[in-house]
Amino acid sequence: PAITAYRAAILDSLGDPTDLGIDNSYRYFEDGLMVVENGQITALGEATDLLTTLPADITIQQYSDALIIPGFIDTHIHYPQTGMIASYGEQLLDWLENYTFPAEQKFADPQHAADVSEIFVNELLRNGTTTALVFGTVHPASVDAFFHCAEQHNLRMIAGKVMMDRNAPAALTDTPDSSYQDSKALIERWHGKGRLHYAVTPRFAPTSSPEQLSLAGKLLQEYEGLYMHTHLSENKNEIEWVKNLFPDQNGYLDVYDHHHLLGERSVFAHGVHLCDEECQRLADTDSAIAFCPTSNLFLGSGLFNLPQAEKFKINVGMGTDVGAGTSFSMLQTINEAYKVMQLQGKKLHPFKSFYLATLGGAKALKLDDKIGNLEPGSEADFVVLDYNATPLMKYRMAQTQSLEERLFVMMTLGDDRAVKETYAMGKPVYSRD
Ligand code: GUN
Ligand code: FE
Repeated sequence: PAITAYRAAILDSLGDPTDLGIDNSYRYFEDGLMVVENGQITALGEATDLLTTLPADITIQQYSDALIIPGFIDTHIHYPQTGMIASYGEQLLDWLENYTFPAEQKFADPQHAADVSEIFVNELLRNGTTTALVFGTVHPASVDAFFHCAEQHNLRMIAGKVMMDRNAPAALTDTPDSSYQDSKALIERWHGKGRLHYAVTPRFAPTSSPEQLSLAGKLLQEYEGLYMHTHLSENKNEIEWVKNLFPDQNGYLDVYDHHHLLGERSVFAHGVHLCDEECQRLADTDSAIAFCPTSNLFLGSGLFNLPQAEKFKINVGMGTDVGAGTSFSMLQTINEAYKVMQLQGKKLHPFKSFYLATLGGAKALKLDDKIGNLEPGSEADFVVLDYNATPLMKYRMAQTQSLEERLFVMMTLGDDRAVKETYAMGKPVYSRD
């Protein structure tokens, strides 16, 4: 009874299309079968080939006009900003002061944190996102609430408490020592528990003293497998501010580098305005960037230069950055990424887009041995996308000739309505109908 097979069109990413070439970067089965046993994928192939090898009494779940892909991976999002998404009129620094900090102050109340965590996790699952790298607030209980919710659905999630000891309202600041102690307690409580991981989370350079950044670096040395999650070079005024606050460091990235915050599990949101030296340093340390197109457009931050990141072979994942981002949908996020590239005279191929939203994110998070693909041995986190989700999608899909074309229509017109089912560890965690 523990074996279930899913029969549908199935698309699996094998690697970065930019490195492998489009044709070698995926496997596609028009009439595919994916076998799941005890939460793991054990076989993937053509249904007609695989069915003969399986016991006769297994359950087969069949989907038509649908595409199974790995669960989406959101490499940068703020759960406490769920209630202030779509706040009008400001760019980064005023947006933080006028909207973000007031919203985050409400998380002093653990009940509020529990309520928003539930709304947030449901929204991720409605959009087919099965793993995310998540900001909490400065309040340790905000992270307890989120992890508790993630644990109930058995989701692979990464989160951390914001470390912020200056340039923010008093109600939202900690101290170097309290941030160190509070983070340590959360790490002991949650890091490595089930599918959960902890991220040391200094908000961004302007809201941390050098002492606090040093202690963040100390935490990373004290525990195995911790993530480091922060913001980098998002907005021109922010970058000027960092230069003034840290005159002894050689630019924004160097502030983090100086405090030993770069590394293979370090994820920097945005990186919209990076010079070649910074790109080289990110690549050399195996750090990752979260590309957040809806946020970068919404806050008027700028256009992320993906070709520059590719040239330096930096790991890149996609981030929604809700609540500066305007959608939980990774489909809408890659749709906007395509437009960001168009504004720079470049193309974003549909296979590359889907790669970035799944396996690319898993690679950026160093989790590609577990998630982000449907190869045997992977955890069975996947989504069922509906080609006929809306009347327009159905009509447009009927005109398509190729998988490439269908993927592009899916990412351009699709959103939460296109997510029919979401599975985590082989269990349904969301069903649309
Ligand atoms: N930089 C520092 N904090 C934030 C935040 O909450 N959102 C975004 N987009 N950028 C930030
Ligand atoms: Fe952010």
